[in-house]
Amino acid sequence: MSVVILALETSCDETAAAVVVDGCQVLSNIISSQIDVHKKFGGVVPEVASRKHLERFNQVVAEALSTAGLDYKDLDAVAVTYGPGLVGALLVGVSAAKAMAFGLDIPLLGINHLEGHIYANFLTEPQLDFPSLCLVVSGGHTDLVYIQKHGSYRVLGSTRDDAAGEAFDKVARTMGLGYPGGPLIDRLARAGDPEAFSLPRAYLEEGSLDFSFSGLKSSVINALNRASRQGQVIKKEDLAASFQKAVTDVLVDKTLLAARNMGVSTILLAGGVAANAGLRSDLVSRARRESRRVVIPAPLLCTDNAAMVACAAYFKYLRGDLAPLTLNAVPDLKLGEERYEGNFRGRVYRTDQYS
Ligand code: KG4
Ligand code: ZN
Repeated sequence: MSVVILALETSCDETAAAVVVDGCQVLSNIISSQIDVHKKFGGVVPEVASRKHLERFNQVVAEALSTAGLDYKDLDAVAVTYGPGLVGALLVGVSAAKAMAFGLDIPLLGINHLEGHIYANFLTEPQLDFPSLCLVVSGGHTDLVYIQKHGSYRVLGSTRDDAAGEAFDKVARTMGLGYPGGPLIDRLARAGDPEAFSLPRAYLEEGSLDFSFSGLKSSVINALNRASRQGQVIKKEDLAASFQKAVTDVLVDKTLLAARNMGVSTILLAGGVAANAGLRSDLVSRARRESRRVVIPAPLLCTDNAAMVACAAYFKYLRGDLAPLTLNAVPDLKLGEERYEGNFRGRVYRTDQYS
């Protein structure tokens, strides 16, 4: 018997819904991005994000179902990202998912957004083996995660200041490129010289698996200010390539160090920054030299989407880890943590319990 899950994702500025069968068979994956709305502000405006989710939500869900050729009655469960993210944005998806689970009398699954990013790898490679190591690099997070088995995570290292994506976005803004900065720097970097600027790489204490990108970001800002004071014209392609190389060198070095420390031969990449061409190719080529296998989702599955949420939800469903209808948005939810309201862990409330 197959399991059909409708997943909803509204944690930041993408309104997304997907229908996925048995975790990995994606019938639909609809994403309505708000980038154009937030662009003029240079970043995501939380209140605007919530309102846009409300406006677009019904249409996105209807499209996910019609593309899948299914109706609400065909669903076995509904899954939703309940944290981390912007509280008002998360609430749109969480409220709708609870209403659907209640109205359809089907189980509800609460998914951690970072867990969703990690599971994008299973959409690419359903036969993944454990243990594995995942570098999660997004707009809000930079984590090295040891995954022992489904649902079991140990964070080996994290950023101490800016997340990798945040550094891309801030540097792009300073360079006058626009928002979001990651894809713009990625594109420019292809035509630039990564050795043109000598930028710092923060390795922190010997053997540390933590990250720090704020010093690098300041160096880029200083280089731009110095050039403007001296009336020099900076070749943006070179600065973008040098910055990107400084970020990816540290990310790849620490990922391989963690893989060696943990004796792990399978490395996964996840989160929006995983769409970066330089990071993808450096990680693959350097891991290959150590005979380690790298799995990287397609770029569309690296950035926010709901298919990844459905995939994570499927494995949770198999474990019977269902959320109660008291589920709430948890903006600071940690990886591996569940915060189901009222502590009704692992139970689902059916309509008959309310009658
Ligand atoms: O995972 P994501 O879509 O949303 C969060 O959960 O944060 O990640 C968004 C981040 C942004 O900072 C964006 O600039 C970055 O991912 N990003 C990239 C690329 N595409 C998106 N960074 C570098 N290169 C890219 N190609
Ligand atoms: Zn994300």
